[in-house]
Amino acid sequence: MIPQSFIQDLLNRVDIVDVVERYVPLKRAGANYVACCPFHNEKSPSFTVSQSKQFYHCFGCGAHGSVIGFVMEYSGISFVEAVKELASGAGIVVPEEKRDGGAEPRKVPPSTDLYEMMQRAAQYYKGELKRSETAIAYLKRRGLSGEIAARFGLGYAPDGWQNLEAVFPAEYAGQSMLDTGLVIENEQGRRYDRFRGRAMFPIHNAKGLIIGFGGRVLDQGEPKYLNSPETPLFEKGRELYGLFQARRAIRDVGRVLVVEGYMDVVALAQYGVEYAVATLGTATTPFHVQKLLRQADEVVFCFDGDDAGRRAAWRALENSLAQLVDGKQLSFLFLPQGEDPDSLVRKIGKEAFEAQLKDALPLSAFLLRELIQRVNLQTQEGRARLLQDARLLVTQIAAPALGLMLRKRLAELAGVSQEELEAMYQIRSESAKPKVPPKAARAQPSVVRKLSEMLLYRPDLAGTVDTTCLEEAEGLALAGVNAEEIALLREMLEFLCAHAHIQSSAAVLEGFRECPGAARLQHLAGGLFAWEERQLDEAALAQEFDGAWQRFQELIRNAHIHRLHAKLQHEGWDEADKARYRELQRRATASPKNQENKENRV
Ligand code: UTP
Ligand code: MN
Repeated sequence: MIPQSFIQDLLNRVDIVDVVERYVPLKRAGANYVACCPFHNEKSPSFTVSQSKQFYHCFGCGAHGSVIGFVMEYSGISFVEAVKELASGAGIVVPEEKRDGGAEPRKVPPSTDLYEMMQRAAQYYKGELKRSETAIAYLKRRGLSGEIAARFGLGYAPDGWQNLEAVFPAEYAGQSMLDTGLVIENEQGRRYDRFRGRAMFPIHNAKGLIIGFGGRVLDQGEPKYLNSPETPLFEKGRELYGLFQARRAIRDVGRVLVVEGYMDVVALAQYGVEYAVATLGTATTPFHVQKLLRQADEVVFCFDGDDAGRRAAWRALENSLAQLVDGKQLSFLFLPQGEDPDSLVRKIGKEAFEAQLKDALPLSAFLLRELIQRVNLQTQEGRARLLQDARLLVTQIAAPALGLMLRKRLAELAGVSQEELEAMYQIRSESAKPKVPPKAARAQPSVVRKLSEMLLYRPDLAGTVDTTCLEEAEGLALAGVNAEEIALLREMLEFLCAHAHIQSSAAVLEGFRECPGAARLQHLAGGLFAWEERQLDEAALAQEFDGAWQRFQELIRNAHIHRLHAKLQHEGWDEADKARYRELQRRATASPKNQENKENRV
């Protein structure tokens, strides 16, 4: 563990512009520096570095982060390695962890290092594979070479209920063991190994650390695949199997192939299609898509040709729309009945397989094809339905040019002019949200997100608010705000209150690296430059933050009131509810915003 204070010190001492310059030639552009992005292929520069924020952001592919993040990403090294490299460049020494009464006592004893435990388990499973004739025979029967099994770190969890006890003599009974997801505790408090009699596929994060496992039964049995549960290390909806091994090939080829199964990834790699990854027994999420688009300009989703495959593909499409970027291409390949990528590549080989990828259906074509299939274009009603069905999808598309072309095509298909279609979509999306002032665009971020963004931009704003409302907010459904956003705001405020000295955005990002909200915070970071461009002065910034905070309070009050209304209808109120309601009404009329309104009216 490197002490947090050292990280902050390092960030104060190195200049991101100097560091990036060593790898990428930067050009000055106003207050910032720009270059062609090193993380994706582009012809005109959208990679931007801010000296004042000590932060980089690529408007093309969305890559962003602090100087530490840049070095990690650019050199493909771990956090600790990046810190060491930066420190040595700046001529400072990374403090050794102090074990005996030093100023920085080690916070995490070795036995609770979950990553290390996962690594140790993988090592054990690997050793067991070498010793098990049946497991080796199974993998051979599936056509896997020893080389490819080694590359993906495959292993075997033998039969038996407590094999891991010998691997983790000190930890087996402790909390950390449960946190790894490797054991299950029954109602009597007795523990046993989760994976028994299964071929084991370790799942790595982008840094190559093991965060989970998938285990396949040898031949028959249920479930066919058993996966690690969600753990502190493993968030299924955000991880992709095989990404760590595929990274290099993805960058070289400029394409990433998304398949459904562990075996598919491994078999494809064995046949030379090394840029495949798999979702982990879940639907494709927006996080997946975002991650994929950061890896390559071309993403091909590969699904079975049956109904289930088409449904899964449609889900992936829906979850992609808000992530689309012009200049990047998403497409869908539907395999022949009864084939999966594993069986197909074995049958036809790399070249023929890749030829099929070239014919994959672009997202726009898939979208139109599915929508058209649902309606009868010969009737007015059918064409009206087409426009209606398409509206929610098309208005979500984040890529301006692609969105435009799709709306054009839809207008043609429906026999209306493009202006008429735009007007219809415009009016519909506004009348659906009558309370939003007309200027507020569809993609307006929620007020909670805005607060978090502002705090990331100017961490010292945290000192101005009373955070007691946050806990109640987390249990409420706030209009237009998702629970994750509230959780992140709370984590940020807690963090900033605990570290009042933190003043820069980069320092917040680094300080958050190990916190649960780190990934969510990363998403916000893309908005930093927009704030900087506005160049608000102190007073305007404070006013805007305060305004957003007041609106947040209002949302909380409204949600409380809504909940009380619902309760009144279903079960009636008791005295406490009445008092609560009066209190909420009082707070509503006392809020500065309402007073302002009254004054304005007078
Ligand atoms: P498939 O059933 O298509 O299996 O599941 P597969 O990958 O072709 O496996 P083999 O070839 O029979 O070994 C696709 C993916 O869905 C998830 C796994 O991630 C699997 O790779 N899955 C499937 C589960 O998580 N649990 C299951 O029981 C089955
Ligand atoms: Mn298969």
